Amino acid sequence: MHARAVAASTTALLGTAALLLPLSPARAADSGGPVPAAVRSAGPRPLAADHGIRHPVIVAHRGASAYAPENTLAAVDKAAALGAEWVENDVQRTRDGELVVLHDDSLQRTTDVEEVFPDRAPWKVKDFTAAEIARLDAGSWFDPAYAGARVPTLEQFVHRVERYGQKLLLELKNPQLYPGIERETLKVLSNEGWLDRRHVGSRLVVQSFSADSVRTVHGLKPAVKTGFLGTPPVADLAAYAAFTDQINPSHGSLSAPYVAAVHGFRGPRGKRMEVLTWTVNDAAAARRVAGFGVDGIITNTPDVVRDAVGG
Ligand code: G3P
Ligand code: CA
Repeated sequence: MHARAVAASTTALLGTAALLLPLSPARAADSGGPVPAAVRSAGPRPLAADHGIRHPVIVAHRGASAYAPENTLAAVDKAAALGAEWVENDVQRTRDGELVVLHDDSLQRTTDVEEVFPDRAPWKVKDFTAAEIARLDAGSWFDPAYAGARVPTLEQFVHRVERYGQKLLLELKNPQLYPGIERETLKVLSNEGWLDRRHVGSRLVVQSFSADSVRTVHGLKPAVKTGFLGTPPVADLAAYAAFTDQINPSHGSLSAPYVAAVHGFRGPRGKRMEVLTWTVNDAAAARRVAGFGVDGIITNTPDVVRDAVGG
């Protein structure tokens, strides 16, 4: 494919900034065009071979969210009790600038906000202060046994993950609603000691469905491992490899050749790109994606997946 055609198809997914991304040597070679020396020496490179059979890492999605209310500290506790090495969460921002952990852009589904603030529909996270959100019950909707669970701040969440020595797959959720959330998230992580060599080296990934947001995180802190949520066309992977270490697709969109294609590139920090897939909650699906060679499985049921594929 001609380099311009690659850039054009990429732009549809990545926005205009993608035009500034270098092609990897592999794609440039495919295009038949010359490979600039700067790209040849510093750009993402395809790898020759697979790295052998490994168990995928297991990521507790929104905590162990099949067993405890999602994105609460109780869900982290449950993930730890089940032996999950990684915990995934979703980060958004309150009206007064606090970063909190919640999936939906509204508080309606997972808290009692309708009862506490009946006249504040549609109950958007961005329209409530941190103090208001701290009053909400984020556990009763799931099970009365969890009554009183709160929407945690990011700070509280990373403290709890740290307590268990777990690793964090942090998703910037709806970043288009929260300009600047990338820098603010990195600031909180830094304040909490999560940007030191130990954490950045092996215990932290920041991911998003927004390629712009992932690119921004990489630009602000190139040492931080990043993930893009989605399934970009193989022809576009070289462009993604300039700013993301992981491609993290829905398991329904996955195949062994796609995983192999991702593994054929090095990410921005020079390591083989990885694939973590979501949300895999039964043994058959876990075995299927493990057979594709994925590096990680994101699941509401980490015990089920571990029993199915090890890890
Ligand atoms: O980590 C993958 C997964 O969380 C993405 O989907 O909607 O659950 O945030 P969602
Ligand atoms: Ca998520």
